[in-house]
Amino acid sequence: MLSSVRLLFFLVVLLPLSPVFLLGAVAYIIRLKLYNQPKGISGTAYEPFLTRVMAHVVGGREDEIAYRLAPMLPALTPLTLQLLVWPLALASRLARYKPVLFCGPVTRPATVMMMMALRNQFYDQVLREVAANVDQVVILGAGWDTRAYEELNNGDVHIFEVDTPATQLAKIAALQKAGIESSHVTFVETDFNQVSWVDALQKHGFEPALRTLVLWEGVTMYLPEDAVRSTLTAVAELGPGSLIAFDYFAREFVEGDGGFKFVAPYMKLSIDLTYGERFIFGIPLRSDGSAAVAALLESCGLTLERFEMVGRQGSMTAFYGFAVGERM
Ligand SMILES: C[S@@+](CC[C@H](N)C(=O)[O-])C[C@H]1O[C@@H](n2cnc3c(N)ncnc32)[C@H](O)[C@@H]1O
Repeated sequence: MLSSVRLLFFLVVLLPLSPVFLLGAVAYIIRLKLYNQPKGISGTAYEPFLTRVMAHVVGGREDEIAYRLAPMLPALTPLTLQLLVWPLALASRLARYKPVLFCGPVTRPATVMMMMALRNQFYDQVLREVAANVDQVVILGAGWDTRAYEELNNGDVHIFEVDTPATQLAKIAALQKAGIESSHVTFVETDFNQVSWVDALQKHGFEPALRTLVLWEGVTMYLPEDAVRSTLTAVAELGPGSLIAFDYFAREFVEGDGGFKFVAPYMKLSIDLTYGERFIFGIPLRSDGSAAVAALLESCGLTLERFEMVGRQGSMTAFYGFAVGERM
């Protein structure tokens, strides 16, 4: 009851401030089109990143480094960032309400509204439980991820960030401008569609025989199935006990089947128009999602270590999934 009143108060404060947010959104899209896309820098990397910045400003998940990095990225400026986050932060503070979209709580079955909160929780938990027991951590398709500068910045493991050259160069420049220490991270440029990331990493001190944790957040959906399989197979050839954490859309959503027939085309079109990137890969989740993911992993030489999903297995709501594959 109290939380419903807080939500109502939050919306009442947020509504008149929405033009400020819209102004920020327009400024962001303009910079994205002028300074980001023409250079081949990832646009979709901003989406999960901004949800982590939002979660930080409303006090739902600490990510000070993301907040410092954000205004230095090509599609944002200090003013644009404040226009985007300030209305939300003010409404949240006055109403003492943390938006479920960024902060949870995540109940089960998780709904689409909880997807980003669950995604953050999933990867945070994997890192908490596994990072201390591995020798190397590889963040594949790192985008603007800041985990290497927070949780992992303890000197215990060798950390590698892998991304396309344009995105990685933009990140390194933004880290420098923000004064964020990054000398403990090895940056490796590659394109999963063209070269083996293991080969690229090996030229920079990566040791395939060691136990490695690979974080592959928010990437599979943009890749052809062959590229997804070749990354999973590469993890199966790393040291025993190596793991890969990844997330994926339901294939039913990517293909616009059944209940997604009307929603999917609009979501896909808006990502394509805004960022010029397309969802092309998914795993069938509707009938038995965990079995489908386990079968994919097994065919690549891995076993399913954990599974999570948005929506309910066996129902039309099955929308998105998370998994960890392990090399036994
Ligand atoms: C949606 S972003 C996710 C970023 C980050 N992992 C996160 O969740 O915040 C996808 C990232 O994958 C990278 N990426 C996409 N296709 C790639 C490819 N073929 N080779 C290397 N990186 C790729 C993009 O440059 C981008 O940084």
